[in-house]
Amino acid sequence: MSNWVDAKVKNVTWWSETLFSLTVHADVEPFKAGQFTKLSIMDGDKRIARAYSYVNAPENPDLEFYLINVADGLLSPYLAKLQPGDTVLIERRATGFFTLDEIPQSEQLWMLSTGTAIGPFLSMLQQPEVWEKYQHINLVHGVRFNNDLSYQALINELLKVYPDKFNYIPVVSREEPLQGLNGRITNAIANNTLFTHVKLEPTPNNAQFMICGNPQMVKDTTELLIGKNFKRNRRREPGHITVEQYW
Ligand SMILES: Cc1cc2nc3c(=O)[nH]c(=O)nc-3n(C[C@H](O)[C@H](O)[C@H](O)COP(=O)(O)OP(=O)(O)OC[C@H]3O[C@@H](n4cnc5c(N)ncnc54)[C@H](O)[C@@H]3O)c2cc1C
Ligand SMILES: NC(=O)c1ccc[n+]([C@@H]2O[C@H](COP(=O)([O-])OP(=O)(O)OC[C@H]3O[C@@H](n4cnc5c(N)ncnc54)[C@H](OP(=O)(O)O)[C@@H]3O)[C@@H](O)[C@H]2O)c1
Repeated sequence: MSNWVDAKVKNVTWWSETLFSLTVHADVEPFKAGQFTKLSIMDGDKRIARAYSYVNAPENPDLEFYLINVADGLLSPYLAKLQPGDTVLIERRATGFFTLDEIPQSEQLWMLSTGTAIGPFLSMLQQPEVWEKYQHINLVHGVRFNNDLSYQALINELLKVYPDKFNYIPVVSREEPLQGLNGRITNAIANNTLFTHVKLEPTPNNAQFMICGNPQMVKDTTELLIGKNFKRNRRREPGHITVEQYW
C-alpha cells in the first residue's frame, strides 16, 4: 500500500494574513501527540513534500495542521490556496520522537515554541495523560506580533479546566504585548522574567524543557539552559532538554 493517500480538506481557518489551520480527513495510521507527517503535491512527476505536526489529539479523526504561508516557499503557498472539498496528499505514517513518552517525569514541564511550532504542544495538551504526569505545565509562545497568537479559545479552555496546573505565557517581540512578556524567549530566560512571571523556579531536579520551532531559537535556548546546568535529553542518557527544529 502506498504511503501517500488522499486527504480531503474539511475546513480552513485563517487566523491572520499569513497564519492558517487546515483540517483534513484521511485514512492515516495512528500517531502520537507531538509527531509530524508530510503533506505533498505532485508538480508533474516531481513530488513537493514538507513536514507538518499534528495539532489534533490522536483520537480525533479531524486531522489538523497549523501553518504559515511562507511567501517565497515551494509548498506552503499552494497549501494556503486549499478550500474545503479539495484534496492534498498526506503521508499515512507519522514520525518523530518529540513526544511525551520520551520525556522523563518531573514536577514542571516547560513547552517553549515559536510561531506555528505551538502546534505539537496543543496536541499533547489535549491528552489527559499529560495533566497526570506533570504538576505544572507552562506553554510559552514566542511570536513577532500579538496578532500571531492563534488558538486562544482552546488555550482559554485549558486555563479554565486546569487553573492550578497550567500557565500560558505569550512572548511578543515586535510590539508591546497585550498579554505575557515583551521580547524573545531567550531574553526572558536570561533575565529570569519567564520564571518569575509564573512564580516557578525550574532546576535540573524539578523541570523538563521541550523546545520547538525556529532553529536559531532552539539552539540559543538550549545553550542558555545548558548554562543553567540542564542537560540534553537522550534515550541512553536522560536529561532535561528535548528539541524539534522546523527548518
Ligand atoms: C519536523 C517538522 C515539523 C514541521 N511542522 C510544521 C507545522 O506544523 N507548520 C508549519 O507551518 N511548518 C512546519 N514545518 C515547516 C514546513 O515543513 C515547511 O518548511 C514550511 O511549510 C514552508 O514550506 P515551503 O515549501 O513553503 O518553504 P520552504 O522552502 O520549506 O521554507 C522556506 C523558508 O521558510 C521559513 N519557514 C519554514 N517553515 C516555517 C515556519 N513554520 N514558520 C516560520 N518560518 C518558516 C524558513 O526560513 C525556511 O527556510 C515543519 C518542519 C519540520 C522539519
Ligand atoms: N509573523 C508575521 O506577522 C509575518 C508576516 C509576514 C511574513 N512573515 C514571514 O513568516 C516567517 C517568520 O514567521 P514567524 O514570525 O512565525 O517566525 P520567526 O521569525 O521564527 O519569529 C517567531 C518568534 O521567534 C523569535 N525568534 C527568532 N529568532 C530567535 C532566537 N534566536 N531566539 C529567540 N527567539 C527568536 C522572533 O523574535 P524577533 O521578532 O526578535 O525575530 C519571534 O518572536 C518569515 O518567512 C516572514 O517573512 C511573518
